[in-house]
Amino acid sequence: MDGSMKIGHTYSMTGEYELDKIIILLIRGRELAKGDLVYLKHPKNNLPIIYQVTRVYPHKRVREYEEALLSEGKVIGDIEDSTLHAEAHQWGWMDDDGCIRTIRYPIPPNAPIFLAERQIVEKFTKPAGEWKFLLGTDPTTDLDVELGIYPLIRQSCLICGSVGTGKTTTAVSMIARAVNVTPPVRFFIIDKDGEYSSLVDNLGVKKALKVPWNSFFHPGDIPWDDYIAEFGWQKSWWNSKILFQALKILYSQSATVTKNTLKKALHLVNPDKLGFNKKDDEFQLYKMQVENAIQISKLIPLENNDVLDPVALLKERLAIVMDLSDGKDTWEQKHLVVAQVLRKIFNEALENRKFGCIIVLEEAMYYAPQYGVFEIGEKESRGKLLGVIKEIATNGGRNGIGLWVVTQRLATVEKTVITQCANNIICHSLEDLDKQRLAEIMGQEFTELIGDLPPGEAIVKGTALKCRFPLWVKILPELYPSSSLSTPMSRFLYMNNISK
Ligand SMILES: Nc1ncnc2c1ncn2[C@@H]1O[C@H](COP(=O)(O)OP(=O)(O)OP(=O)(O)O)[C@@H](O)[C@H]1O
Ligand SMILES: [Mg+2]
Repeated sequence: MDGSMKIGHTYSMTGEYELDKIIILLIRGRELAKGDLVYLKHPKNNLPIIYQVTRVYPHKRVREYEEALLSEGKVIGDIEDSTLHAEAHQWGWMDDDGCIRTIRYPIPPNAPIFLAERQIVEKFTKPAGEWKFLLGTDPTTDLDVELGIYPLIRQSCLICGSVGTGKTTTAVSMIARAVNVTPPVRFFIIDKDGEYSSLVDNLGVKKALKVPWNSFFHPGDIPWDDYIAEFGWQKSWWNSKILFQALKILYSQSATVTKNTLKKALHLVNPDKLGFNKKDDEFQLYKMQVENAIQISKLIPLENNDVLDPVALLKERLAIVMDLSDGKDTWEQKHLVVAQVLRKIFNEALENRKFGCIIVLEEAMYYAPQYGVFEIGEKESRGKLLGVIKEIATNGGRNGIGLWVVTQRLATVEKTVITQCANNIICHSLEDLDKQRLAEIMGQEFTELIGDLPPGEAIVKGTALKCRFPLWVKILPELYPSSSLSTPMSRFLYMNNISK
C-alpha cells in the first residue's frame, strides 16, 4: 500500500462528510474516470477502504460577471480557478478472512485518497481456489478478471445488454473456458437461433453435440390433457373419452405413441366399456372425428423416431446444444419440448447427487416471458415451461443445476427468474428503459456505472467475483457466435456477386 499514488482529498461543499458517498477534490494534474477504484485508509487499522468512482466533474467558482462576459463570447480561461471533483461510493475494506466490511467510524475531513494500485485491485479480482475461469481484463489496471464457477452454479448468472453489445460472445466464451477447467463444467444450451454451433465446431463432436429440438420430443411424456387441449375438446366429450381409451390401450401395451399406433388402438376401443349406449353408427362417427384429429395433430408424431435423452447425452458430453432454429412448427410445441427436457434434467439432478449441469437460456424471453409484457406460443404450454424454469431458478443451484440467462430486454423476462439470476450479472450497454428495470434490482449505483459501454465491455458484479462491488471488464472472446461469420455487408456482397 505504501507508495500508492495520492490523487486527492475528501471534500464537502456543506462541511458535512458522509461515509458511503464521498466527494474527492483531485490534486491538480491527477485524473480519475468513472468506475475507477480508489481508497482511503481505515482510521483504526490503516487498511484500504475501497471506493468506486461514480461521477467525475469539473468545478469552477461562480462569478457573477462571467455570464455577461460569455454572452459577449469571452471565455475566462483561468485554469487555476477550476478544480476536478469526483463522487465515489463505498464498497468497504477486506478483513483478515477476506470478507468485505463497510466502515462505521467517521473519517476525518479532507482525508487523503489514493488510487487503488494493482496489488490492491488484484485482491478483489481473483477468486480463491482453482475452479474458476478468465472473463476478461479490467481496462484501468489491465488485470485479469476471473469468475469462480461454484457461485455461477449455486447462484446462477444473468448476461444482459441491448442488441449487438456482445452478450452471446460473452456467453459462448464463458462456456468454452468452463468446459476446459478441471473438472470440466457441463452445459445444456437452449439455442434459439443456432448461435452456439461455433462451440460445437470448436470442441468437436466427442465433447459437444448439436441436437435439433424435435429429437428430444417424447410423445409418451405428454400429459393426455394436452392432446384434447390441442383439439379444443372438453374432457366430458365422447371424442375425448375415446381418445383416452385408445391411449390407455397403448399404455397397457407399453407401445410408443405415434399416429399409426394410436389409430390402431382406436379400432380396439369398445363402446360398451365406455358406457356408450347410443347407436353404433354414432360411435363410428365419433371415432372418425378422433382419427381425423390424430391425423392433423402436431403433438402426435408420424413415426417412432429415436428420441434422445438429454440426461444420457450430458453424461457422455460436455456441451449439448438444443437447436431451436429449425422447424416451422409453432412455439407451443417448442415450449412443450423444452419443458420436457428441463424437467428431465432437473429431476435427474434431484434424484442423482452425481449429476449436474448449467442450463443456458439464450434469448430467455422466449421461454420465461413476463406476464402481460411478452407473449409467444400458447398460454398453457408457456405456463408449464415457465413453471420448470422458475423452479430451476429458485431451487436449481443447491441441486447442482445452474441457470445462465442471456437476454436483451430485462422487462420481458419473468421477474423471479431475473432476480434469482442477478446474483451474478454481466451487464453490457443497456437501453434506458432496461436501466430503470435494472436499478430496481441492482440499485442506482450499479446502473450509473454502465453509461455507454462499447461492444464487448461490461460491468460485472456478483458472488462469482472475489469482490462484492462491480468491476468494469473488457471481455476477452474465446469464441464468437455463429452469426458473426456473416456480417450484413458480406450478405449483400454475396448477393451482388451472384446477380452479376
Ligand atoms: N468481447 C468482445 N470483443 C470484441 N468484439 C466483440 C466482443 N463481443 C462482441 N463483439 C463484437 O460484437 C458483435 C456482436 O456480438 P454478439 O453477437 O455477441 O452480440 P449480442 O449482444 O449477442 O447480439 P444480439 O443482440 O444480436 O444477440 C460480434 O460479432 C463481435 O464482432
Ligand atoms: Mg446474441
